[in-house]
Amino acid sequence: MIKQTVNASKKYDVIISDGKKDFKAFLPLFGGKNILILTDDNVFNLYKDYFDGVFTDKNVYYYVIPHGEESKNLTEYAKIAEFLAKNNFTRSDSLIAFGGGVTGDLGGFLAATYLRGINFFTVPTTLLSAVDSSVGGKTAVNISVGKNLCGAFYQPTAVYIDISLLKTLPEREVKSGLGEILKYKFIAKSPANFSYERIFAVKTVILSGTEHGSFAGNEGELLTRIISDAISEKTAVVEADERESGVRKILNFGHTVGHAIERLSDFKLSHGEAVAKGILYSLRISKILSENKKKFDNEISLYKKALKELKIYFSDDFTPKEIIAAVKSDKKMNDGGVDFVIINDDFKPEIKTIPLTELENYIGLIKETRYEG
Ligand SMILES: NC(=O)c1ccc[n+]([C@@H]2O[C@H](COP(=O)([O-])OP(=O)(O)OC[C@H]3O[C@@H](n4cnc5c(N)ncnc54)[C@H](O)[C@@H]3O)[C@@H](O)[C@H]2O)c1
Repeated sequence: MIKQTVNASKKYDVIISDGKKDFKAFLPLFGGKNILILTDDNVFNLYKDYFDGVFTDKNVYYYVIPHGEESKNLTEYAKIAEFLAKNNFTRSDSLIAFGGGVTGDLGGFLAATYLRGINFFTVPTTLLSAVDSSVGGKTAVNISVGKNLCGAFYQPTAVYIDISLLKTLPEREVKSGLGEILKYKFIAKSPANFSYERIFAVKTVILSGTEHGSFAGNEGELLTRIISDAISEKTAVVEADERESGVRKILNFGHTVGHAIERLSDFKLSHGEAVAKGILYSLRISKILSENKKKFDNEISLYKKALKELKIYFSDDFTPKEIIAAVKSDKKMNDGGVDFVIINDDFKPEIKTIPLTELENYIGLIKETRYEG
């Protein structure tokens, strides 16, 4: 078990454990009488018994949403808020988001806004939500114009990561989580923690068995450690700039084009797969802007080899115009253009405001010459 503390506007603990035994450490944090466990149908079908016997003196309610990005919307939000109100949830009651990033983002936005804020716990069940979305306090729903356009910064009360829940993830969702982990290879303070070899090993470990239950010794340790390393990297950035006015933007590495592609694919590409592709675009744009193109050739070639090893492929192709139109509707735009994270010649992440016409030219260049590394 590893316990980490996030010192944001709210101080909270993150426990990473193998099994649910350590969850009891958080029981005193549940005030009030009522708990809503928000989950999706896939997670509910697999783990409907998970919280049985955990809360002995509370009214526990379940709300099950259909799985997938389509549920992260205002209609679903309103239905759940009405459910909370009809069941007399008060401000001292709690909501647990038990699922992946969709459940977490929607649940977090509900917790932030229902009665202007109730206790919010996350129990992530995907690799992506374990390494990324469960920590940091970004909550949101999508609207037809774009992804995550309505949301709030709202830190959880506590985060419980049970790695044994990841055993049932389909390969596609494991790859999706690996997409977010790959990001740290380029932006982390300790990039060695995110070597390709370690990332390959994580994939093998999670996919090594689909049985419920704990991992064997070393396997669980590797998984616990890399999740913890990713959370440490994210925590340091969130603590420095919780509301993303500066340095937190580096966490968006690969996301500007990634989000655009995710939407253009109609969410057929998972979030992490789209980010993995977005990273490739970011590396290629970094190369265009670099004085040391040879170094980038090497990095791009290693990155592509890693994607191949991880079996992360992209069959779709979008025009620079389509990508730019999708980028435009992203909330990360500002007057001068888009804040785009590149890797500079010291191989450190750097935020550059790039006008959209310029970004379109760079993407066009990538399309024409392919920059195959
Ligand atoms: N708030 C943030 O900081 C942040 C960061 C990154 C991503 N996100 C958001 O997270 C979302 C993506 O999250 P995600 O990839 O976890 O998607 P998700 O929540 O849709 O989960 C992916 C799929 O895995 C299934 N699943 C979940 N846990 C499972 C388990 N243990 N076993 C088997 N199946 C399981 C789900 O039912 C779903 O079908 C996007 O909406 C993205 O915008 C938010």
